[in-house]
Parts: sequence; structure tokens; C-alpha cells
Amino acid sequence: MAEEFQKWVLMVTAQTPTNIAVIKYWGKRDENLILAINDSISLTLDPTHLCTTTTVAVSPAFNQDRMWLNGKEISLSGGRYQNCLREIRARASDVEDKNRGIKIAKKDWENLHVHIASYNNFPTAAGLASSAAGFACLVYSLAKLMNVQEDNGKLSAIARQGSGSACRSLYGGFVKWVMGKEENGSDSIAVPLVDEKHWDELVIIISVVCSRQKETSSTSGMRETVETSALIEHRAKEVVPKRIIQMEEAIQKRDFATFTRLTCADSNQFHAVCLDTSPPIFYMNDTSHRIISCVEKWNRSEATPQVAYTFDAGPNAVLIARNRTSAALLLQRLLFYFPPNSETDLNSYVIGDKSILKDVG
Ligand code: DP6
Repeated sequence: MAEEFQKWVLMVTAQTPTNIAVIKYWGKRDENLILAINDSISLTLDPTHLCTTTTVAVSPAFNQDRMWLNGKEISLSGGRYQNCLREIRARASDVEDKNRGIKIAKKDWENLHVHIASYNNFPTAAGLASSAAGFACLVYSLAKLMNVQEDNGKLSAIARQGSGSACRSLYGGFVKWVMGKEENGSDSIAVPLVDEKHWDELVIIISVVCSRQKETSSTSGMRETVETSALIEHRAKEVVPKRIIQMEEAIQKRDFATFTRLTCADSNQFHAVCLDTSPPIFYMNDTSHRIISCVEKWNRSEATPQVAYTFDAGPNAVLIARNRTSAALLLQRLLFYFPPNSETDLNSYVIGDKSILKDVG
């Protein structure tokens, strides 16, 4: 390669928000392709608060694929990264930057290496779905860099192979991950239900109970649940399919009472199957349980519920208030019951739900 050609670097930066499931994905039927045992529905969060920013670069000067996460180099040898890189490379097309005289032909991508730098603006692996934002952003930015001509649905099936929940971060608003039937996973994709404007009075508050890395990762936790829980099959086959239908309807109608009932019940059932796993998995702690009691009591004392709660694979609460007034009251209550500088001091972030993938450069 001519020396001139060796000098260039082509870069793309993208930002992707995380998503929070209101009907949870828990359990795989195929570990390699990451195929779920049930459909799930999530809400994509506002990217200004909880998001991953990823810059991907390609240059003939790079002699291997490399990645840095929050400034620290990580290995790309794992199957999940390799699957995403392979799938994106296979769909790369010609790229031309006329101003700089750079031309990459489709076939060149096989021999070019990428460098990836990714930052989360929230605690990694503390049950705040960092892998969801991370893999969605990785796939999206690589697809932009390599001029992949696929829609977000197809990209979601690639992001899914990085982390199941990542497929839902390719869209804003409420998103459903359809588990699909095909063995090769081609129909296991994310589909947008309603965009971020549909129900924009909702306010999301994340209460960080603990920002430490969780002890049992979602991946190994759900594997153990599928292998040992007697309840998981009932959940996946009987309970979730009905809830998915009801949840879709509640979202379409902006029916907050039904939305809250389903969201809280599904979070509680997910943690119940974790408890039914051998050995049992405890993602929530005493503070999480106190938050649940506080919200349940408040909802029952009102004519209609004010707040839905949901907890992923960690102790942190995601609280969804019906509107700004309820959100303000909720924050007051949280400050009262969990005072600052006390043992159970919560760090609560208010987050909207206007979320969309963003190219920032
Ligand atoms: C509790 O998507 O992190 O957040 O597919 O193994 O990477 P892998 O798991 P991951 O699991 C998320 C589980 C959850 C529920 C959800 O987001 O639906």
C-alpha cells in the first residue's frame, strides 16, 4: 500500500441510549445466537442521561481490531464481539470520502481493521443495562462506518448477538423484541411499538441504590434460571404471552393503571424466578424492597396509581411516574424515606423518555 494511503483515518461517532424492560427478557433458547424464550417490551431512555457514546475508526495503519471501554482496553476475542463484527463486515459496502480522496471498496473491508472507543455515562454492569446501550451503539456506529445498507430491524438482529437487550435500543419510544421462531434467528428482531412522542408525559426516575458491579451477570443468571427453575417455563409460556398483548394495548391507550400493574407484576415475577433458581439469585436488596413498599403504599392510597417500578438484574430502581406532578411528589417521598447522607442515601436521576439514536459526527 502506498504510504499516502496509509495515513488516513475514517471515523464515525454515535450515541445510543439504554432501554429498560417493562416486560422482561429472561432466558435463552440459543446461547450463541442469543434467542430469547419469550417476547419482551422496553422503554428506550433519553440519551442525554444514560447512554453510550462510541467512536469507531478504520485506517490501513491499524493491524488488528481493538476496543477501549471507558478508557480501558478490553479483549475483542469473545464470541459476542466477533459475531457482531463478522455480521457487519459481511454487509459492508463501498465508502468514499471525495474531499480527502479516500475510497474503500466493499472487498477491502475484509482486510481493514477497526479501533473502537466506547464510553458509558452511567455505572457499567450495575443493572442499568449498560450492555444494551453498548452493543446497540457498537453495531450502529460500525454499520455507519462501513456503509451497511440495512434498516434498524436488521441491525437489531445483529445487536442482539452482542447482548439480547441491545436489540431494543435501536429504536426510541416503546419497543418490542419479538423472540421469533426461526432457528437462525432471522425473525428475532426489535420492532418499534410507539415512538418517543406517543406517551411523553411519563417521567422516568432512576434511583441508584448501589453502583457496584453485580455479582451474577444477566447472562449466567438467566442460564442458571433456565436450567434449574421450575417456574420459568410457566412464566415464558403462560404468563408473558398474555402480558405482552395487554401491555401493547395499555401503551397504545396510554392506560397508566394497567401499565403500572403489568410493569410491577412482571418485575416481581422476574425476581421471583431468580429466587426460584438454584442457587438462588438475589438482585434486589433491602433498600430495593423498601422502595417497592413505599411505591405500593402510595399507589394504593390514591384513586389511580402514580408510579410504576421495575428492577433489572441489580438493586437499582427504575421508577416511571405518570406525569411531572407525580414525579415531583415521588422525589419528595424518596428524599423523606431515604434521606441524603444516611445509610440508604439514593442518587436519583430524573430522565425523560425522548430517545432516539444520534449520529454525533
Ligand atoms: C433483566 O441482555 O444483559 O435486563 O443477552 O445475556 O447479554 P444477555 O443478557 P442481557 O439481559 C437483560 C436482562 C434484563 C431484562 C431485559 O432487559 O429484558
